[in-house]
Amino acid sequence: MCGIVGYVGRRPAAPILLDGLSKLEYRGYDSAGLAVWADGGINVQKTKGRLSNLYNATDGGKTPYGFMGIGHTRWATHGEPSDINSHPHTSQDGNFAVVHNGIIENYLPLRRKLEAKGFSFRSETDTEVISHLFEYYYSGNLIEATVKVMHRLEGSYALGVLCEDFPDRFVAVRKSSPLICADGEDESFIASDVTAILPYTRSVYYLNDGEIALVGTDGISFYNTDCEEIKKEHTFIEWDISAAEKGGYEHFMMKEIEEQPKAVADTVSPRIKDGKITLDGFNLTARELEKVGKIHIAACGSAYHAGIVGKYVIEQLCRISVEVDVASEFRYRNPIINEGDLVIVISQSGETADTLAALREAKARGAKTLAIVNVVGSTIALEADSILYTHAGPEIAVATTKAYSTQLALLYLLAADMAEKLGRISGERYSELVDEIEKLPEKIGEILKNKEYVQYLASKFYSSESIFFIGRNTDYAVSLEGSLKLKEISYIHSEAYAAGELKHGTISLIENGTPTVAVMTGKRLFAKTASNAEEVKSRGGIIVAVICESERSEASFCDHIIRIPDTDEVLAPSLAVIPLQLFSYYTASLKGLDIDKPRNLAKSVTVE
Ligand code: AGP
Ligand code: GLU
Repeated sequence: MCGIVGYVGRRPAAPILLDGLSKLEYRGYDSAGLAVWADGGINVQKTKGRLSNLYNATDGGKTPYGFMGIGHTRWATHGEPSDINSHPHTSQDGNFAVVHNGIIENYLPLRRKLEAKGFSFRSETDTEVISHLFEYYYSGNLIEATVKVMHRLEGSYALGVLCEDFPDRFVAVRKSSPLICADGEDESFIASDVTAILPYTRSVYYLNDGEIALVGTDGISFYNTDCEEIKKEHTFIEWDISAAEKGGYEHFMMKEIEEQPKAVADTVSPRIKDGKITLDGFNLTARELEKVGKIHIAACGSAYHAGIVGKYVIEQLCRISVEVDVASEFRYRNPIINEGDLVIVISQSGETADTLAALREAKARGAKTLAIVNVVGSTIALEADSILYTHAGPEIAVATTKAYSTQLALLYLLAADMAEKLGRISGERYSELVDEIEKLPEKIGEILKNKEYVQYLASKFYSSESIFFIGRNTDYAVSLEGSLKLKEISYIHSEAYAAGELKHGTISLIENGTPTVAVMTGKRLFAKTASNAEEVKSRGGIIVAVICESERSEASFCDHIIRIPDTDEVLAPSLAVIPLQLFSYYTASLKGLDIDKPRNLAKSVTVE
């Protein structure tokens, strides 16, 4: 999901590939590579780590010397960052080189089939199946071979493909991962986004899903999957480079908020096949699960808030006791961990010092450990006994949004999978949950289509001294996250409270005009939270409620209501959090603050 650049034309390719990849570095990556058609064949250079390693390996782009090539920055999803797992991947006969952004969901059965046909694999990646499929289907016609390969792939992919038989043109394809084509004077380009090619041309073609481009020195031709040539209009890019880096968004945070439907879909869909959850990295049998007396969750910040949602959902569905700690407390409170206990650590970066220490503490005490992590090959991922990767892709903004949402999605899958194995929920309830989990990306997208009202609310409250959040059960867990988001990027004082707890102290802080966000998605507890909101209202507070579409209970006490789509009650946090993220974003934006890099904060806190 990171970066692709391709070039063919009148200039040496390698320097242009390196320059283009450097423009894509902002997207985050863990390794880089390139392939150039030179001296009659395909020459590959690829290295783990920073782009500077590739720069050195190619003598600053002087080698390989050729006029056509493809480059890649990798954000590992399958196979840890390493030289051999870096892209490009070549076919067994060396006739093809492939770079890929995305996830091939059916790579395992494809790999087995290809191995049975005598293909040997060198890497652990999902991508490598593509290079062997090209060899398998190629018989001289590049477009036909491309279509045959596309018909076998499931998942998301943007591809650049070199074939040794064609020294002056290469193939580009996209499905669900971004890829653009561009043409200049006697030269053509592909890239993950316009940033990489703006220094050379502003004449761009946006590839649609399922379209194939044959990119040549003499121009670009486009085909559909019937191998028919299609006409495409080019677009002239007006953007300046800094705007383009964020895909046209003003901040990475908004770009990542908008990427949540795809991030959740990428995390969920490879793990649901024919209505059944299959958790690739965590497969305790029913018998092993029976022995789990208690689940401990340790994490920091937003990951901790995701853990609290996980507690409610796992206890509700699995009837296994769950204890959640901030990792910095867990590691020093001499936790009571009994044999068979499971400790789950959650971390976007996989490098948070406190969470890593909590993981090590748990292992030292004999617990089984599971890590839910976004960065493949990160320290926490490598040290945990089992690993479930979120597929949020690189998250640049310090304030997490899409990674948090993918953590929730994985926790739902985990809870439903364990509950079904333990026989704690019926088959019908299981199917209901799976069905609703699969609909979350679409419902998140619906909320994102109606941002204006939240933006209006931010304009009313952005100069508030304090803003409170209340909720019960999973609504309380979401309140914690909404409050943190607001504090992190707008610097407004905020507190989140279990709605029933407000009257035991904090309500003394409510004054005339104090805004309080009441998250009220839970039907069972709606009336209870409504009473608490009315207690706030009666003291002059202003109530902004987050309520499900179909909720018809009396809500006249609310000054403002944000409606969200209906979903299963245990899954509601994934929808309720979206307006809270947007509220924080717009509030900080109105205050003119540095949204992507808030003061005093780091994206990954690798110190105690
Ligand atoms: C979230 O918006 C914050 N940036 C912060 O609380 C973060 O969630 C916390 O530092 C944990 O980071 P991790 O998920 O990378 O471990
Ligand atoms: N899924 C591929 C891999 O893990 C590509 C990841 C990417 O988009 O960079 O190598």
